[in-house]
Amino acid sequence: MEAPRPAAGASVDDLLELFQSIRKELEQREEAPSGAWVDSSVAETRSGAKPAWYYPPADGGGIAFYSRRGPKVWGHVHAAAAPAAPERARRLAEAMLDALPADVGWVSVGFSGFDVASEREVARGLAERPGGFAVERYQMEAVLRPGPIRPAPSVPEGVELLPARAATTAAIADLDARAFRGSVDDLVMGGSVEEYTEMVERLLASGLGRFLDEASIVLYEPDPPRLVGGILDAEVSPRRGVVLDLMVDPARRGRGWGRFLLRWGLRAFQALGYSTATLWVTESNVAARRLYESEGFARTASTVLFHWTRPDGVPQPQTSR
Ligand SMILES: CC(C)(COP(=O)(O)OP(=O)(O)OC[C@H]1O[C@@H](n2cnc3c(N)ncnc32)[C@H](O)[C@@H]1OP(=O)(O)O)[C@@H](O)C(=O)NCCC(=O)NCCS
Repeated sequence: MEAPRPAAGASVDDLLELFQSIRKELEQREEAPSGAWVDSSVAETRSGAKPAWYYPPADGGGIAFYSRRGPKVWGHVHAAAAPAAPERARRLAEAMLDALPADVGWVSVGFSGFDVASEREVARGLAERPGGFAVERYQMEAVLRPGPIRPAPSVPEGVELLPARAATTAAIADLDARAFRGSVDDLVMGGSVEEYTEMVERLLASGLGRFLDEASIVLYEPDPPRLVGGILDAEVSPRRGVVLDLMVDPARRGRGWGRFLLRWGLRAFQALGYSTATLWVTESNVAARRLYESEGFARTASTVLFHWTRPDGVPQPQTSR
C-alpha cells in the first residue's frame, strides 16, 4: 500500500465524500459537528489551512486531519470500511503524527469508518510511541419511557440546588477541573481550566446538542461560596437526552451526591418527554461506570482514542526509527 498523499489541493468531490462519511458516522454516535462543518472542512483542507493526508475514495478512501490550539492538537483519522481499512488508518495516522510541528506537546486522535476492534488495534499500535496510549470509551444508554416518572431524589443536606445557567462559566469550569484532575478524561480533554472553560461554553451554547436548562443543575455550598457538584444535559434528538457532564467535588465524594445529580437529571429527561438517556464514559472511570450501571445504563457502543503527551526529551510523537 502506498503512503497517503497530502490533501491540500485534492478534488472537491473526493474531499466532500470523505468528510460527508465522517459526518454521517459522527451523527450516528450523536457527536455530529455543527452545520457547515463539511463545507468548511473541504475548503480548509484544499487550501492547506487544515493539515490533512488522504486516500481517494477510488483507492479505498480515508483521511487524517488535525486542528491545533497552542501546543495541543486534536486529530481525526477516518478510513472507509473497505478491505485493508486498519492498514490505511495506521498509515494515515502515522503520516499525520510524523508531520506534527516540533512544538506540539499534546495530541488526541479519534477514529471513524471501520470497526472498533480494528480501532483498538490501530490505537494500541500507535500507543507504542513513547508518551502514547489508547483510551477506550463506551456509550451507555438507559431507557426512561415507557415507565412511571421516577420519584424526586431528596436534596443533599447543606447544599443548594441552582440552575446550571445561574452559575458562571468560570465556576463550572473550575469545578470540572477539580473533579477531573488527574483522571484519564482530564488528559484527553486537555486538563487545564482554559480547556474546561471552552468546553463549558460550547455545551451551554448548544455545541453538542441543544442545551437543556431544565435538566441541568449545580450544587452550591454557600459558606464559603463554592460549587460542589453539577450535571449538564442536552438533547441529541427529540427522543434522546444526553448527559454531557457530571461532576462532584473530590472532597464531597461518596455521599450519594453523584447519584442524586444523575437521578435528578434522568427525572428531568423523563418529565421533558425523552424516552432514552445516553452518555459516553471512559473505560477506566470505574466510579462513574458503576454509578451508571446501577441506575440502569447499559453499554451500547465503544470507540477508541489515541492520546499522546510529550514525555521529557522526546521532540515528537514519532516512532524511534
Ligand atoms: C462519578 C462521580 C460523579 C460520582 O460521584 P459521588 O458523589 O462520589 O458518587 P456517589 O457517592 O453518589 O456514589 C454512587 C455510586 O457510584 C459508584 N462509585 C462511586 N465512587 C466509587 C468508587 N470510588 N469506586 C467504585 N464505585 C464508586 C458506586 O456504585 C456508588 O454507589 P454505592 O455508594 O451505593 O456503592 C464522581 O466520582 C466524579 O465527579 N468523578 C469525576 C468526574 C467524572 O468522572 N464524571 C463522569 C464523567 S462520564
